Amino acid sequence: MSYAIALRCRKCGREYQLQPLNLCDFCFSPLEVNYDYKSIAKASSRETITKGPPSMWRYKDLLPVDGDVVDIGAGFTPLVKADNLGKELGLDKLYIKNDCLNPTYSFKDRVVSVAITKAREFGFDTVACASTGNLAASVAAHAAKANIKSYVFVPSDVEPSKLTGIAIYNPVLVTVKGSYDDVNRVCSQLAQRYDWGFININLRPYYAEGSKTLGYEVAEQLGWLAPDCVVAPAASGLLFTRIWKGLDEFSMLGLVQPVNTHMYLTQAAGSSPIVNAFEAGILQVHPVKPNTIAKSIAVGNPADGYYALRVARQSGGGACAVTDEEVVEGMELLAETEGIFAETAGGVVIAGLRKLVTSGIIKRHELTVAFITGAGPKTQEVIAGRVHPFVIEPTLESFEEVLGK
Ligand SMILES: Cc1ncc(COP(=O)(O)O)c(C=O)c1O
Ligand SMILES: [Zn+2]
Repeated sequence: MSYAIALRCRKCGREYQLQPLNLCDFCFSPLEVNYDYKSIAKASSRETITKGPPSMWRYKDLLPVDGDVVDIGAGFTPLVKADNLGKELGLDKLYIKNDCLNPTYSFKDRVVSVAITKAREFGFDTVACASTGNLAASVAAHAAKANIKSYVFVPSDVEPSKLTGIAIYNPVLVTVKGSYDDVNRVCSQLAQRYDWGFININLRPYYAEGSKTLGYEVAEQLGWLAPDCVVAPAASGLLFTRIWKGLDEFSMLGLVQPVNTHMYLTQAAGSSPIVNAFEAGILQVHPVKPNTIAKSIAVGNPADGYYALRVARQSGGGACAVTDEEVVEGMELLAETEGIFAETAGGVVIAGLRKLVTSGIIKRHELTVAFITGAGPKTQEVIAGRVHPFVIEPTLESFEEVLGK
């Protein structure tokens, strides 16, 4: 059995039995999983974790699942020392957490592995999700592995390469004529009517927990150390809050020193409701209508925006928005310096990091981890127009004519 004991309302603290439920009946605030940390501290140590499998499931004691897990190999992705990029940006200790290298090429495999395991425990024979694209691929893949039926809903303007990467797993794939926020709204209505496990709606408290493993892994991979600065993308804001929770739990369990990490979130300027609120110095996130090439994180009405904002503020971090042009430059810079081809969300992170360093907010000596959460082949469209190979005849002369000796 897991060490999860209850769902607890983030606002009023009311507790609920572990069940498929995401909002408090009294104040409509999000619920989160609460654990018996005393028992976890007794059972879990650096040694027991190190002996675990080379996947996110080495942290099973800190995840809310009871029995066998639905595992297609998510997690324990490389943490790369990025000296070339660090030199370019003016950072002495820069690391890239390369979560492109998950089974369906984004960090979403972490959250889905937990949520679909819970779906099975709760007895759902069908799962579903509202997605900007990456989540849908991951849900479809895990559902295939678990022999569960899946319905996945994405906006109809999702990138064609992403759509292919979903369809291959043969889910019921539904494109919705509208934005992600429209998709989310219709899925919330469907969740009321159908007895399905909606990975990011009624199963959201469990889904959220998967992202904590990014915080755990980075700390373990740094030699049981929390970084000085974290730079991560935000859509709903959930991932950002859970990287922080992961670091915080490790410190609470004595696995790392007390955490003093500054948390910086990045968004595309065309969809930056959380950054807007940060810059305005308010705690209320006002919805926007997204318009950006960074479609995976184009969420106009972020469900966890308020909590992400609080993490940015309370950690002494910040929030930063970048233009679409800067997103593409960020993708190119990461690829050219470190050999990592990220999707647009990664471009947002690298461009945001550059701004934060240039403006003196992140300092040269600070150990900084940038989270790259999805792979480049998923959004090839945005760079297609920038590909200009040299074209030659199949002769030596032609080569020298075109490129010079
Ligand atoms: C590649 C990528 N990075 C980051 C995120 C942000 O996730 P969250 O909604 O938890 O903020 C998403 C969400 O879809 C994503 O697809
Ligand atoms: Zn409540």
